[in-house]
Amino acid sequence: MKKKILITGTNGQLGSELQKLAPAHSQFEFLPVDINTLNLCDKTKTLSFFRNNPPDYIINCAAYTAVDKAEDEIENCYKVNCDAVRNIAEATPAQTRIIHISTDYVFDGTGKTPLKESDHPNPQSVYGKSKLAGEQVLMQIKPESIIIRTAWLYSSFGNNFVKTMIRLGKERSELNVVCDQHGTPTYAADLAQAVLNIIRRSEEKNAFPAGIYHYSNEGATTWFDFTKKILQLARITTCTVHPISASQYPTKAPRPEYSVLDKTKIKETFGIVIPDWEWSLGILLLSGHHSSIKN
Ligand SMILES: NC(=O)c1ccc[n+]([C@@H]2O[C@H](COP(=O)([O-])OP(=O)(O)OC[C@H]3O[C@@H](n4cnc5c(N)ncnc54)[C@H](OP(=O)(O)O)[C@@H]3O)[C@@H](O)[C@H]2O)c1
Repeated sequence: MKKKILITGTNGQLGSELQKLAPAHSQFEFLPVDINTLNLCDKTKTLSFFRNNPPDYIINCAAYTAVDKAEDEIENCYKVNCDAVRNIAEATPAQTRIIHISTDYVFDGTGKTPLKESDHPNPQSVYGKSKLAGEQVLMQIKPESIIIRTAWLYSSFGNNFVKTMIRLGKERSELNVVCDQHGTPTYAADLAQAVLNIIRRSEEKNAFPAGIYHYSNEGATTWFDFTKKILQLARITTCTVHPISASQYPTKAPRPEYSVLDKTKIKETFGIVIPDWEWSLGILLLSGHHSSIKN
């Protein structure tokens, strides 16, 4: 019998990329669920759902991701990013393996070297605090789970920085973009592939090495250099990008100044090869399959 992989948050960026990869992984049965099929904040329904449909794996892509709005919607944010994670952990039988997605925003961003899984988290925003609370609740209830922290996620699906910059680059002749926050973009298709590689490997080796892992694309950049590359690859030549400091672009939720993730652990544990961020951005923006993002 095929092993069942349940994907939550299936209409989001990562959930959509996972669904897209599903046909190439026909050894598994994929069960994509959205908020209408299963609202993870509803404890009773979540319990009964997993009692009736216990999957072998859950990839939890569901999240409250509106980082600035979260500062005003604290309760809603914690409901999805922490309470729903507790519901999943409590509702799933012992044999169900959970892969949960978290964020670089659990760090305060004051460091200067790539962040390791063992580095001390110190979130500065409601979103970051709620995601850290979700990690902690999962590790308390189901310490045999895997948590993957990622950063600067983009995809041809959903709303993201790449799409916004392409739209603004077409509309405006000048853009001011923050040049003193450092991180690494992550193409959600690469992360989706990495997650499925982890599951495939876990099946082959009959081992599921629990714990926290970091994943983004390779390399490092700033929002300013990221934007210049986006416009260059999208062949938008009518817009000039100017560097500004984060202090000139105040946001409701503070962003980490430095959140480059160290990926050594995930690469060594699972034999994952991670593409460079510029390469992956090029795959998205230069490929005919993703022409929708350019228009
Ligand atoms: N986006 C980033 O830059 C970024 C960076 C670092 C880490 N991450 C993490 O990466 C993961 C995937 O992010 P993403 O960008 O793919 O997120 P996304 O596009 O915002 O998708 C999240 C999905 O979760 C669903 N959801 C919300 N509340 C739910 C509930 N109560 N029950 C079931 N589903 C619910 C949403 O459904 P509706 O659309 O119907 O509300 C949405 O489809 C998240 O854990 C996020 O925290 C994201």
